[in-house]
Amino acid sequence: MNCCVVGLQWGDEGKGKVVDILAEKSDLVVRYNGGANAGHTVIIGDQKYALHLMPSGAVRPGCRCIISNGVVVDPAVLIEEINGLDKRGISLKERLFISENAHVVLDYHKLEDRLREEALGKNKIGTTARGIGPCYADKVGRSYAVRMADFRDPQRLKEKLETIVSYKNKLFGALYGAPPMQVGPLLEKCQTYRTILEPCITNTTEMLYKAIDAGDSILFEGAQGALLDLDHGTFPFVTSSNASALGLGPGCGVPSRHVDRILGVVKSYMTRVGAGPFPAEQDNEIGNRIREKGHEYGTTTGRPRRCGWFDAVAVAYTARLGGITEIAMMHLDTLAGLDEVKICRAYRIGNRETTFFPGDLSDLTAAECVYETLPGWQEDLSEAGEMADLPDNARRYLETVESLVGVPITMVGVGPKRSQIIYRKPL
Ligand code: GDP
Ligand code: IMO
Ligand code: MG
Repeated sequence: MNCCVVGLQWGDEGKGKVVDILAEKSDLVVRYNGGANAGHTVIIGDQKYALHLMPSGAVRPGCRCIISNGVVVDPAVLIEEINGLDKRGISLKERLFISENAHVVLDYHKLEDRLREEALGKNKIGTTARGIGPCYADKVGRSYAVRMADFRDPQRLKEKLETIVSYKNKLFGALYGAPPMQVGPLLEKCQTYRTILEPCITNTTEMLYKAIDAGDSILFEGAQGALLDLDHGTFPFVTSSNASALGLGPGCGVPSRHVDRILGVVKSYMTRVGAGPFPAEQDNEIGNRIREKGHEYGTTTGRPRRCGWFDAVAVAYTARLGGITEIAMMHLDTLAGLDEVKICRAYRIGNRETTFFPGDLSDLTAAECVYETLPGWQEDLSEAGEMADLPDNARRYLETVESLVGVPITMVGVGPKRSQIIYRKPL
């Protein structure tokens, strides 16, 4: 059984927790998009892990971890994660595999990300400054790209970096007045990266095909969320990869016919980090309350997350986009204590009403939410172990989301721990 887990909102839905749970029965866990912009939280007992590049299956000692071709790999972050996990007794030795075709995020990408955002001023995207956009841009541009396979050939890498640094110096100098970078220190860093990471570099597509042939169970871990998808999200306020389930094929070479289950993760409300339209945003007491109760601060950047009501128009769209077969709804516990709860069921744009998520940014910016208002619940849900433990109003909330989105909710999160989850069908 192969399963893909993806976010259906703007990221941070609780994918790390769901992947950790499903990884118990998986042989391999594959990260196939994004890079160190991701921050996936896994909590085991009193131990909290925030993973950026490492697949969340890393915390399960029997799981092989793959970083496939679609990921942009920042070697410095990855090495820090490997060492950090090692110090906590989790060894990745001989079970971490990185695609030779994955593109490499280097210092000049992070610099470019920062310089570009600064230059944009109030029009900035609000990126994580992890060099994601510039690295994917170099991938698409082809001529100035570095891939993991280049670490195998130091001479080739040296020549490439000399050309790239000279090109970037001209560019950053002319556009931003930036002082020139030296190639020497970068080459030294790359030598260290090579020593540590070279044993992990391999053909991950071949590995995955062998695993499929052997009947291994593969778990694909999406990063970000479908509303941040480069092609189908709220462009330009998106990330630079296909963050919906559609990114899986190009991101690792496995076509969707090998995926039996596509699980969409949502929170019981919406959050967004960075700029961009957010029709159901509650920039008020409700939003503040959700932020504090749900600890809605970025796992990667620590930025406060913008919070709002659950948007069924947006999630019905992303569920369709990803071919989602079931939904895991996290943070139901966070909504407890409100007198009433709302779900956006349609958008009013000018004098028309629609239940289809607009593709045009100005429509989305103009959209006003039409809400379904439901009675809230006061009970603490953190100890709930099954559906029968939930108050009627919480169950009614889930049923309303299911009917508006059109996909069954099969898992319900009632707290951040591994154990705080209600299963509505066997795993
Ligand atoms: P990811 O990027 O999708 O993996 O999500 P993040 O880790 O960035 O953010 C999700 C946050 O919610 C983390 O702090 C989790 O520990 C926490 N979390 C996950 N599920 C639940 C839940 O059901 N209830 C509560 N209260 N917290 C949860
Ligand atoms: P996980 O995997 C939430 C957002 C950034 C910004 C936009 C572009 O933890 O869900 P980028 O650095 O990718 O160029 O930034 O995308 N963003 C995320 N928001 N969770 C994430 O990942 C995100 N990764 C990127 O805040 O708005
Ligand atoms: Mg996150």
